[in-house]
Amino acid sequence: MRKPFVAGNWKMHKTAAEAVALVEELKPLLADTTQVEVAVCPPYTSLVAVQQALAGSSIGLGAQNVHWEASGAFTGEISAEMLLTSGCKYAIIGHSERRQYFADTDETVNRKLTAALGAGMVPIVCVGETLEQREAGQIEAVVLGQLNGALQGIQAKDASRIVLAYEPVWAIGTGKTATSAQAEEVHALIRGRLKALYGPEVADAIRLQYGGSVKPDNAAELFAQPNIDGGLIGGAALKAEDFAAIVQAAG
Ligand code: 13P
Repeated sequence: MRKPFVAGNWKMHKTAAEAVALVEELKPLLADTTQVEVAVCPPYTSLVAVQQALAGSSIGLGAQNVHWEASGAFTGEISAEMLLTSGCKYAIIGHSERRQYFADTDETVNRKLTAALGAGMVPIVCVGETLEQREAGQIEAVVLGQLNGALQGIQAKDASRIVLAYEPVWAIGTGKTATSAQAEEVHALIRGRLKALYGPEVADAIRLQYGGSVKPDNAAELFAQPNIDGGLIGGAALKAEDFAAIVQAAG
């Protein structure tokens, strides 16, 4: 059985002090949560402070990006080892905002994924179509294309550690969530491709998160779908009560 996994992507929000205040609010709300794996992904500048604030809690820590090289002349970038040693178990890779604004491509996503796996991290790889692509009937081509690109050369023994997040771009930050049926349809498609690539055992072990305007009032229905194993939460992750309610909906 897959353990549901809910992660908060805080994007470019919160100073270190504000980040610590948010996790201090979250900790008691999630103290009894054992059925759901939970992580928060604050900006780099808050990682160490949040790691300290999370000591002794079961909430995990993640980063929002990672570089593919171990070290070198890459101004402004952060390696997987740097993240690990700052307390990060998880790294979000290939978020649509990074693909759109910061030139992440299927190729760089693949390199980042390879680096994160090599370092022993749990990568959260994002895929999803734009509204234009959906309306042009290209969901399958886009999502499976991104998936194939990300997974080039990744072996079955490493693949079960990967978390995939289906985030339709048109649902991110718009308040327009995919219906549970729309989301499940794409999740089933992804699971099918994973089966073809890695066989049923590995495919059934991989967690598939849904992301895009998940809120306390739509989370339970989304998470009840057979191939939706939790969520990657943006805006609602910045409010402790909302995030805790979403986590509870996954349990
Ligand atoms: P929202 O929940 O704000 O729509 O963001 C989703 C997202 O991009 C998570 O990575």
